[in-house]
Amino acid sequence: MAGEPSDGLEGARAEAERRGVGGYGRHVFICTGPDCCTTEEGMAAWTRLKSRVGELNKREDAVPIYRTKVGCLRICESGPTAVVYPEGRWYGGMQGEALDRVIAEDLGEGKPVQEYLIGENPLST
Ligand code: FES
Repeated sequence: MAGEPSDGLEGARAEAERRGVGGYGRHVFICTGPDCCTTEEGMAAWTRLKSRVGELNKREDAVPIYRTKVGCLRICESGPTAVVYPEGRWYGGMQGEALDRVIAEDLGEGKPVQEYLIGENPLST
């Protein structure tokens, strides 16, 4: 890892280790608005996503997923907007049954949910 032990980042490194950074296989970001959805809709989606991903991560065969709420993914239409990496699957309308399907089918089984895809941008490895 870059940097010296006394470079002032010891606390951040300890927190990253505590949070399992280095062991994740996927990362999902979800926007909590306020332009693609209301803040209430965004926070409800975040709460749902956080809880369900926590359950997925407890599975015996889990590929650990990190989840992060963000203020804007610069789509700002028909949200909440979400993106799943490394596949780079961008989704719109992430609430209710739509969100539940993406959690179950994409995050749970690795399968894209075509009905809610708004774009794809896989990261190269
Ligand atoms: S406010 Fe959600 S994408 Fe911009």
